[in-house]
Amino acid sequence: MYKIAVIPGDGTGPEVVNEGLKVLGQAGKKFGFKYETKFFDFSGKRYLKTGKLVDDGDIEELKKYNAIYLGAVGDPDVKPGIIETGVLLKLRFGLDQYINLRPVKLYNSAYCPLKDKKPEDIDFVVVRENSEGLYKGMGEFKDKGTKNEVAIQISYNTRKGVERCIRYAFEYTRKRNRRKKLTLCGKTNVLTYAWDLWQRVFNEVALEYPDIATDYAHVDATTMWFVKNPEWFDVIVTDNMFGDIITDLGAMIQGGMGIAAGGNINPQGVSMFEPIGGSAPKYTGKNVINPLAAICAVGMMLDNLGDPEAGKAVENAVIGLVNKDLKSLAAGKMGYSTSEVGDLVAERLK
Ligand code: IPM
Ligand code: MN
Repeated sequence: MYKIAVIPGDGTGPEVVNEGLKVLGQAGKKFGFKYETKFFDFSGKRYLKTGKLVDDGDIEELKKYNAIYLGAVGDPDVKPGIIETGVLLKLRFGLDQYINLRPVKLYNSAYCPLKDKKPEDIDFVVVRENSEGLYKGMGEFKDKGTKNEVAIQISYNTRKGVERCIRYAFEYTRKRNRRKKLTLCGKTNVLTYAWDLWQRVFNEVALEYPDIATDYAHVDATTMWFVKNPEWFDVIVTDNMFGDIITDLGAMIQGGMGIAAGGNINPQGVSMFEPIGGSAPKYTGKNVINPLAAICAVGMMLDNLGDPEAGKAVENAVIGLVNKDLKSLAAGKMGYSTSEVGDLVAERLK
């Protein structure tokens, strides 16, 4: 029995979560697993009404679940930074989900903006450190509001934090067993403290994985390779900020935000799965948003819960749909509504 905490959140979050749960229900029938869901209303909406964000009590409560399924949080009426830090980052940090796992996989070349790239050319995974770096929120203003103002934002990297992320990436590359190549994506030529540490730890840990080929690419060059030669990559490990940036580009080359899912992983604790696209206010309530990213997040969640067969079946159902049924992956252009796309995936799972 899986206990799943569901956070539909804001905007199109609830719509796509509905479709993900539809598919989860069908997967449960087919693969014979049982689960129960409990809904939590953490969101920008609730913050506007009550002033409440996620607190330590909420974090303790969530630790009782096997997984968390999140739609999207963020409301255009709330000043940037409040919901992000008070809800999303609070969950990631509070539950020590120190890995953000973002697969970049092209399911149909028709949806790739790059010329002549085929599904086998775009199939890699970004392992993004998810608990430190620039996201730590460390820094200060000096002489705020004056002509001499200085704003300092610190990238905080601990040996332990870097090492656990890099170890996870090596293990993941081995388990994935595709090209067995791990690329460190950094900026050793300029950010000479943080990336010196990352590079040293990467080289040390690599000695324990002689079966894994290693490689290094600067982050700026990485964005170039994503467009020019995405087939070079198998698994990429990087810090929080670079991982945030390159995975949006990754999402675009795999077909857009409508299909990109991610997992916030605590290998020893509770992990959280989400479409990476955000709350898309302009599509809210119209039944036009693409729920496939949220459905792919269900696939990742099942894999993480220890049912890789069910996870793979969900992914295969999505692949079938993307190749045979849909006109586009973009909101409003799929040829079907949000709920119809959910139905079609569930149907293919039968
Ligand atoms: C993401 C998002 C978040 C991040 C924001 C909403 C805080 O962009 O999941 O990539 O920067 O991590
Ligand atoms: Mn992002």
